[in-house]
Amino acid sequence: MSFVEYSEIIQEGDVVIIFLGHESMMPVMVQSGAQTQTRYGVIRHSGDLIGQRFGSKVTCSKGGWVYVLHPTPELWTVNLPHRTQILYTTDIANITLMLELKPGSVVCESGTGSGSLSHSILRTIAPTGHLHTVEFHAQRAEKAIQEFKEHKVSHLVTVRNQDVCKDGFGITGIADAVFLDIPSPWEAITHAKSAIKRKGGRICSFSPCIEQVQRTCEALLDHGFEEICTLEVLLRVQDVRTVTLPLPDFGPEEDSSSSQVASDLSQDEVQNSGNTSVICRTATPPREMAGHTGYLTFATKPCD
Ligand SMILES: C[S@@+](CC[C@H](N)C(=O)[O-])C[C@H]1O[C@@H](n2cnc3c(N)ncnc32)[C@H](O)[C@@H]1O
Repeated sequence: MSFVEYSEIIQEGDVVIIFLGHESMMPVMVQSGAQTQTRYGVIRHSGDLIGQRFGSKVTCSKGGWVYVLHPTPELWTVNLPHRTQILYTTDIANITLMLELKPGSVVCESGTGSGSLSHSILRTIAPTGHLHTVEFHAQRAEKAIQEFKEHKVSHLVTVRNQDVCKDGFGITGIADAVFLDIPSPWEAITHAKSAIKRKGGRICSFSPCIEQVQRTCEALLDHGFEEICTLEVLLRVQDVRTVTLPLPDFGPEEDSSSSQVASDLSQDEVQNSGNTSVICRTATPPREMAGHTGYLTFATKPCD
């Protein structure tokens, strides 16, 4: 198993995502002889996981079942151990597209944080690209190195434990793209510019506050960056529910009966109780939604 390549069969040392439901998943490192407790009972790694196909339904000791899924960057983002605030799929999707990442891209990132974005970058740039990720918190850098090894992607990534604002990314003139998720991105623009290749490289900076965005845009302008553009991506989900709605009583009509009303409603199901209500599926946005995460500022490096 690797986070950048699919395998059929679960082996010792693999990470599997135990799927109990959309709101309930857990990542597990498979080890022969080990066991994992779930609310449906125990999963024995040797008997229940090793040798099974990814995606199988596994019955736990209490008779309930779970799916054992192949890990992906999307599943990792919603299951990873949080060491910091992380980026979520809505922002990640835009970052990957707008930075024009593709297999073979060379990318710089700082800070590594919990590695949420890093995993998506790695899958996009594999098998020939490289990620240079800089994290000044020593334990976070160590943990990221360990996870990249466990996820079989360490050949695609170099982790540097240093301050990106002082020491930069450790490469010059070869990056296709730079991504910043640090409190003072404007202090890293000089290093970002020197890491990026001579022509057409892209930069993105993620900041929660508009004052950070202003300072970053000023620094990008001072360094001659072009096509500077800031956007905010908001996710609007829909709740799908089954509701019972009362049918309005318009009084008797000559050529219509309540059974015709029912057939007019096509698949909708009319309740037996005097045909006065209808059961149907609706999709509505929730009253409250998770709103602002941060602003994404993109720019293109000018030609030297
Ligand atoms: C919000 S987290 C990044 C989260 C990451 N994008 C993810 O998706 O998991 C910010 C990280 O940047 C690191 N950091 C802050 N300033 C830094 C600097 N000047 N140089 C290197 N790392 C820095 C912090 O230690 C922290 O781990």
